[in-house]
Amino acid sequence: MKDIKSSRGRELEGRTVILCVTGSVASIEVPSLARELMRHGAEVNAVMSEAAEKLVRPETLEWATGNPVVRRLTGKTEHVRLAGKWKGKADLVLIAPCTANTMSKVAVGIDDTPVTTIASMALGGGIPLVICPAAHEPMYKNPAVVSNMQKLMERGVDFVGPRIEEGKAKMASIDEIVQAVLRSFTRKDMQGKRVVVTGGPTVEFIDPVRVITNLSSGKMGLALAMEAWRRGAEVSYIFGGGLHPPDFIRSRRVLTTKDMLDAVLSEIKASEADAFISAAAPGDLAPMTPAENKIPTQEGEIDLKLKPTPKIIDNVRKRWPKLCIVAFKAETAPSQGDLKQAAKRFMHHAGADLVVANDVSNGKGFGADTNSVLILGGRTTRKLSERPKEQIAKVILDMVAARLKKNTR
Ligand SMILES: Cc1cc2nc3c(=O)[nH]c(=O)nc-3n(C[C@H](O)[C@H](O)[C@H](O)COP(=O)(O)O)c2cc1C
Repeated sequence: MKDIKSSRGRELEGRTVILCVTGSVASIEVPSLARELMRHGAEVNAVMSEAAEKLVRPETLEWATGNPVVRRLTGKTEHVRLAGKWKGKADLVLIAPCTANTMSKVAVGIDDTPVTTIASMALGGGIPLVICPAAHEPMYKNPAVVSNMQKLMERGVDFVGPRIEEGKAKMASIDEIVQAVLRSFTRKDMQGKRVVVTGGPTVEFIDPVRVITNLSSGKMGLALAMEAWRRGAEVSYIFGGGLHPPDFIRSRRVLTTKDMLDAVLSEIKASEADAFISAAAPGDLAPMTPAENKIPTQEGEIDLKLKPTPKIIDNVRKRWPKLCIVAFKAETAPSQGDLKQAAKRFMHHAGADLVVANDVSNGKGFGADTNSVLILGGRTTRKLSERPKEQIAKVILDMVAARLKKNTR
């Protein structure tokens, strides 16, 4: 059933993924994996080893992908139809889960199952191959398997996972595999670049249990961190709030603006960052003296005196005069002209390379999945009408990648 195609995104539209399944218990997760790839627009063709058929029904995979499943090679030369040298060949071969057995066979050029034959076609025909291993830990650590994996890595095979847990090398999560597939189709224009990204709100304590915060969700920061990761950058994501990044993104959760500042300074220093993208909404004001104990409310009104928190961008710019900085400016601006003026002033004051300005009046921007923004950079201004934050992240990172490229010339 293909009715769910592109329901989550169109990134894989026009792409065919051959999803090869081998004899690991993790194969029971494959129908969900196939469906998730389809939700991002992919056409999925499943290929199974005989051992896989004992664990997951071919009928389930046929239903999940909406395509016939290749269970053995016949006079129809299914391997050539799917992965031969012709215009309609697949764009990616994904083996998930991949047994220790199949990994080793592929590494030494044995093809005696439909899966190993497809892998052989991919390696010989230049189709990207992504492998998601799954095995009991001792099998995965077998020195023969380790050295075979090494061989495959040297030949450019991309490995996703496994997670070592409960004595098992478990297949990577569906989310991680889907992200790796998206990444393999993304231009790697930030390969080798190190980027620190912030996202989400901070909190400032009134007393040990009460805080002042804001309505930022962290969706923009996370979209930027993910897009930078897909483009090959080494990403450190520092965030506040409840929207956690996936495990494979290096991240740190913080509470207060001061915590965020300390984390940003130490990450930029440790990673020798090339760019800092400040998409977080750190609280600008904090209670002057937070109460040590929970404030009783029986006595009625209380006065709260606020002081400004440290400015993260100012501190970063002071220490790294040449770092590429992207700053976000949220304004309750009645007109585009006002927003542009506010962004210009901010750009000048903060010394940012790019300023992304958005109007947050009437609940716009904060917490939503979409936004409309003005991006100021040097003498250019780009206006992006309302669109998903993921698409805004792509435009911003195109501009960052272009700047970093210029700086390295
Ligand atoms: C229930 C069950 C679960 C298995 N799980 C795994 C596994 O996670 N990883 C692995 O490498 N082998 C696993 N095996 C062993 C493989 O199925 C076996 O090595 C088989 O020959 C692999 O064939 P294939 O690579 O062609 O699929 C499992 C076997 C059974 C019966």
